[in-house]
Amino acid sequence: MARLLKFNIFRYNPQDENSTPRMQEFVLEETVNMTLFIALNRLREEQDPSLIFDFCCRAGICGACAMVINGRPGLACQTKTADMDPDITLLPLPVYKLIGDLSVDTGAWFRAMYQKTESWVHTTKVFDPTQLEERMDNAVAEQIYELERCVECGCCVAACGTARMRDDFMGAAALNRVARFVVDPRDERTDKEYFEVIGTDEGIFGCMGLLACEDVCPKQLPLQNQLGFLRRKMGITALKQLFRK
Ligand code: SF4
Ligand code: SF4
Ligand code: FES
Repeated sequence: MARLLKFNIFRYNPQDENSTPRMQEFVLEETVNMTLFIALNRLREEQDPSLIFDFCCRAGICGACAMVINGRPGLACQTKTADMDPDITLLPLPVYKLIGDLSVDTGAWFRAMYQKTESWVHTTKVFDPTQLEERMDNAVAEQIYELERCVECGCCVAACGTARMRDDFMGAAALNRVARFVVDPRDERTDKEYFEVIGTDEGIFGCMGLLACEDVCPKQLPLQNQLGFLRRKMGITALKQLFRK
């Protein structure tokens, strides 16, 4: 006989002045290969059309369905109910602006952080469309590709103690993105210029190094290595600046 799943879901619509934050219980019969994506869609279709949550790809690619699942940030479309106890608690990701229920605005956060970290290739070369593309060493291209796999789901930031304490902290996702440009030979920024962007408590020196970010990353990005790489690089840059004075 199929299990009955009991969902406890955070409900609050900041757009509705009559809405107050609360937990709502739903019961749903489990089906074979059910994911939280399937379960939430059935709850919305069959029990409460006002339930707010985000999905797009259903394949762990868009990052839209991130939420706190039984206390841990994760992707709902990649979470099978068969791997869980029948009591399931779902909350929106903290840190980001709440849109409603389980939906948060990760886009505004990522846009602001990418602007702050100047997340684009800085080059003085003028683009010439008649020239062949520049070649890049395969190993470097693969290294950049690895760091570009981030789907901007926001789980790493939601799990981060520093990001929970201070809203100006760049978080592992934005720092990982900086590391991507540091290894890119087309970016002409110097270590000193990177230091001006991330050499603060808002940046790499605010990181406590406990690595909740890597633990929850659904794409298994090597965040620990990147944070360590940036910390060493910015530490050496700070020392160099100190002894030059
Ligand atoms: S290691 Fe740093 S970025 Fe990652 S969760 Fe901890 S404080 Fe946040
Ligand atoms: S680094 Fe991982 S957890 Fe963080 S936003 Fe990217 S994919 Fe999500
Ligand atoms: S719906 Fe795209 S990652 Fe889950």
